[in-house]
Amino acid sequence: MNEPAEFNDAAPQVEELSLPPEHDYSRLSERAAFTIDAGMQLEESEEDEEIDEDYVAVDNDDMNDLSYWFRRPPVRQRTKLDELYPFVQVLTLSNVEDCVIVESAFPEHERCSEEKFKYRLTKCPELSLGMFTLPLMKEGQPKPRPTLVAHVIATRTSASRVTDRSMQLPPNWQSERLSFEKDQPIGHEESGGTVCIHSLAVLPEHQGKQVGSTLMKSYIQRIREAMIADRLAIIAHDHLIPFYESLGFENKGPSACQFGGGGWFDMVSSFFLAVH
Ligand SMILES: CC(C)(COP(=O)(O)OP(=O)(O)OC[C@H]1O[C@@H](n2cnc3c(N)ncnc32)[C@H](O)[C@@H]1OP(=O)(O)O)[C@@H](O)C(=O)NCCC(=O)NCCS
Repeated sequence: MNEPAEFNDAAPQVEELSLPPEHDYSRLSERAAFTIDAGMQLEESEEDEEIDEDYVAVDNDDMNDLSYWFRRPPVRQRTKLDELYPFVQVLTLSNVEDCVIVESAFPEHERCSEEKFKYRLTKCPELSLGMFTLPLMKEGQPKPRPTLVAHVIATRTSASRVTDRSMQLPPNWQSERLSFEKDQPIGHEESGGTVCIHSLAVLPEHQGKQVGSTLMKSYIQRIREAMIADRLAIIAHDHLIPFYESLGFENKGPSACQFGGGGWFDMVSSFFLAVH
């Protein structure tokens, strides 16, 4: 059989040198290559010397633009919500004053009082959620206190909708675990299956930036996934019915609640299919 010319005895084969075939000698002198062949370490200075010899200054005008053209484009435009660098967190008693400020989003006669915030954030802080913003800081600057831009405050009830009773502030809440009026429970009922949202509010200067809807989505997901309630309920004026419907709430019609002068609609989001 005729061997191809390059495989005859005179031509050294790559395999015989026991080096990986792809080994690149192009930047090394024969002397350095021999050193490696002999299993010896190439001295650093030798290698540098050879590379320096081959050094060619890069003309930046010759560089291709691939890194620019293949860069991942932004998924979407930054929004006003992004600019807030928002984060959500369960509220505590230390946030009462922040909540009073955010509550100014409501007309005065619909606002939750400071005492009610204290009551609700004492009895069931786990049913609350706040969205905060923290400005970007320069290096070395002290961390400022985050600003509460929106809140959700809730209690539990055994009823299937928000009731005036569930919105009450029990006069003896500091000393009693459960409170009754005419034998009916008032305020927060620990074992109630309905989470009543008494306040969803966004600081006026941050409204219309998707803050309210984003906070509500986060809240609904938390309560649903924690499996701690059968449903969420809220009362809303008619102009906000589409807002709550877009979040999965169903309009159950006019509410019996007379809080703040009445005129509310019952909005309910059930976590389980009703069994008839
Ligand atoms: C209602 C409220 C919570 C909404 O929060 P927000 O951050 O301003 O609303 P978002 O930017 O998330 O808006 C989401 C959608 O709801 C709609 N929406 C928001 N506020 C609305 C209002 N007052 N009337 C009608 N639709 C409204 C928006 O048009 C928006 O729709 P889009 O996404 O198609 O543009 C907020 O405006 C607020 O605090 N209002 C005063 C207090 C209040 O009424 N709370 C509700 C109690 S039931």
